[in-house]
Amino acid sequence: MSAGQNRLPGVPAPSGAETTTDHGPVAVAPVITIDGPTASGKGTVAHRVATALGFGVLDSGALYRLTALAVLQRGVDPADVAAVELAARSLKVVFHPTGVTLDGAEVSDLIRQEHVGNLASRLAPNPGVRAALLERQRAFRQLPGLVADGRDMGTIVFPEAPLKIFLVADVRARAERRCKQLIEKGISANLDDLLRDMRERDARDTGRAVAPLVAAQDAHVVDSSNLTIDQTVQAILDLWSSARGEGG
Ligand code: C5P
Repeated sequence: MSAGQNRLPGVPAPSGAETTTDHGPVAVAPVITIDGPTASGKGTVAHRVATALGFGVLDSGALYRLTALAVLQRGVDPADVAAVELAARSLKVVFHPTGVTLDGAEVSDLIRQEHVGNLASRLAPNPGVRAALLERQRAFRQLPGLVADGRDMGTIVFPEAPLKIFLVADVRARAERRCKQLIEKGISANLDDLLRDMRERDARDTGRAVAPLVAAQDAHVVDSSNLTIDQTVQAILDLWSSARGEGG
């Protein structure tokens, strides 16, 4: 699926997002990117912003987690970069309204496990994996718009997005949130272990050479440490209103 689609009657092009081709004008779906460290609340916030605007959602971390799960299920050696890239290229994934399937099996809960997230962050620096997942991610860009969350949405995947958010929160606040979520799901969790894993994962995600976790130059940094989810969502919707207003 390409970023551009034929303009639908009655659907205004977002400002600055129309190009003309031999086939006439095409409207490019607007993208709001939300990047940030693990457990910063990106996923929940992205879904809420998307619902408010009627946009679709891309949870790009899920694709890295699905790659990790495929590696585990197929017995691929995580150190074998070519085999891991092949696993990423050959993912048979279907996102459905309440989750995702891998090779036809429901894996929504499996990919949320901490060890799968940790393996995803160890596989993510592999340039072959990142290249394999790039077009899959861009295919989510469809009218009327997309909210994309991850680490490199604003820098690599959708560098021309009209609104970029870099969502941060203090590591302790994030570990406490994750601990609460796991306990609510009936999964045992230890705050100190989560803090250590989260610091390690932050260091890997920010320190890697390829597509590191970094705010795009034109991103708005939103610190959610002391904000509720409602307040964070509202802050982003306000930024979206003014981005559209400024664009005319
Ligand atoms: O966001 P989530 O925790 O689900 O992502 C799992 C891992 O996938 C991250 O720790 C990160 O290493 C990797 N990832 C990435 N680029 C993205 C999204 C996730 O490298 N756009």
